[in-house]
Amino acid sequence: MAQKLPIDSNINSPNQVSIFRTAKPSSEFYTVFSEAEVLGIVQALESRWEIPLKYSYKGQGAKIWDSFYLKYIVPTWYRTSNVEIDLLKSNFAYLNGDYQQCEKVNIIDVGAGNSYPVKAFISRLQKIDKIDKYIALDISDELLKVSSKNFKKWFPLIDYTNYAIDIENNKIPENIFKNQLENTANIFLHLGVTIANHHDRHQVFQNFRDSMAQNDLLVFTNEIGSNSQWDGIARGGCKYHADQVYGWLTNNLGMEAEDCELVRRYDPAKDSIVANLKLRQNYTINFSYLGIDKSLEISAGEEITIWRHHKFEIPTLIQEIEQAGLKLVHYSTNKYSSHLMVICETASK
Ligand SMILES: C[S@@+](CC[C@H](N)C(=O)[O-])C[C@H]1O[C@@H](n2cnc3c(N)ncnc32)[C@H](O)[C@@H]1O
Repeated sequence: MAQKLPIDSNINSPNQVSIFRTAKPSSEFYTVFSEAEVLGIVQALESRWEIPLKYSYKGQGAKIWDSFYLKYIVPTWYRTSNVEIDLLKSNFAYLNGDYQQCEKVNIIDVGAGNSYPVKAFISRLQKIDKIDKYIALDISDELLKVSSKNFKKWFPLIDYTNYAIDIENNKIPENIFKNQLENTANIFLHLGVTIANHHDRHQVFQNFRDSMAQNDLLVFTNEIGSNSQWDGIARGGCKYHADQVYGWLTNNLGMEAEDCELVRRYDPAKDSIVANLKLRQNYTINFSYLGIDKSLEISAGEEITIWRHHKFEIPTLIQEIEQAGLKLVHYSTNKYSSHLMVICETASK
C-alpha cells in the first residue's frame, strides 16, 4: 500500500513540486526598519544571502547589544582588562590634540553603542580641559538613546549631540562640524572591532577619509590574526551576540524555530568568521511594506549570514587603509597581542 507523505516532506522525486513554507516578517520588523533599510535587507538577501549585522543593533537589537556588553565586556573585579579602555589609555598621547598641536579635540564616536568604552578616556580629557564636544553617531536610534542617557549622567558639563547615520553608506554629515572652534581637531573613533563586522570595509574607510580634515584622526580597534586558522570554537561575540541576534531574527522574519539552526563557519569568500541561519525547510520570505512587495525563495540546506567578523593581519590592514587614502600614524597592541588600536590620518594633507 502506498504511504502518504507528510505535507511538508523534503523528499523530492523528479515529478514532485517542492513545498515552500511562508515566512512573513513581523509588524515589529517593519516598525524597526525604515523603507530604505528594508530594501537594503532585501537587496543583501537577494545578492548574497546576508542580513548585514549593522541592522541587528536596531529595535530590540539595541537591548541585546547593551546587555551583552554589560554582561561580557564591561570591566569587573574578575575581568579587569578591557580592550578599548586599555588601548585608549595607552594611546592617550596621540589622542589629546598634542600630536596635531591643537588646543582641543572633538570626539566623534562612530558606532558609539552605549558609549561606555570612552568613559575613562573622556574623563581624562576633561580633567586637562582638552575636550570641546562629544558627538555620538550610530545606525541605531535606540543605542543613541542609551548613549545619551549614559553620557549626560557621567558628563553633564560636556557638550553632547548625537545623530543616526549608516557609515557604510554615507560620509559624516558636514553640519556636525559647524561652529568648530579654531585650533581644534576631530578624533573619529570606530571602536569595539566594528570595522570587522562591515560587509564593505573599503567603503567605510573611504567615508571616514572623505569626512576628515588635515588635523583629524581616525582611531579604530580590531582583532589580529588569521581567520582561516579558526579553531571552530565560538567565543565572545561569535557565541553570545550571534546567539541573541539569531533568536531575534528568526522570530521576526516569521520562521518557525524548529525549521532553522544556527551554524558558524569560516567564509573564504570574505575571509571572515560568520554565523549563519541555516534552513531545514524550504521557505518563501514575503516582504510586504509600503511600496515593497518582494518574495524570496530559499531552499532547505541554504544559509543566511547574520553575523560576521574579520580579523586583520597587519600587512593587509595597512594595505586596506592606504587603498582608502588613509595614512598610518601609529598602531599598538593590547597586552595579549590579540587586538590592536590603529590611528590614521588622511593621506592627502
Ligand atoms: C560592536 S558594537 C561597538 C559599540 C561601541 N563602539 C563599543 O566599543 O562598545 C557596534 C556599534 O556600531 C554600530 N554600527 C554598526 N554598523 C554601523 C554602521 N554601518 N553605521 C553606523 N553605526 C553602525 C552599532 O549599532 C553598534 O552600536
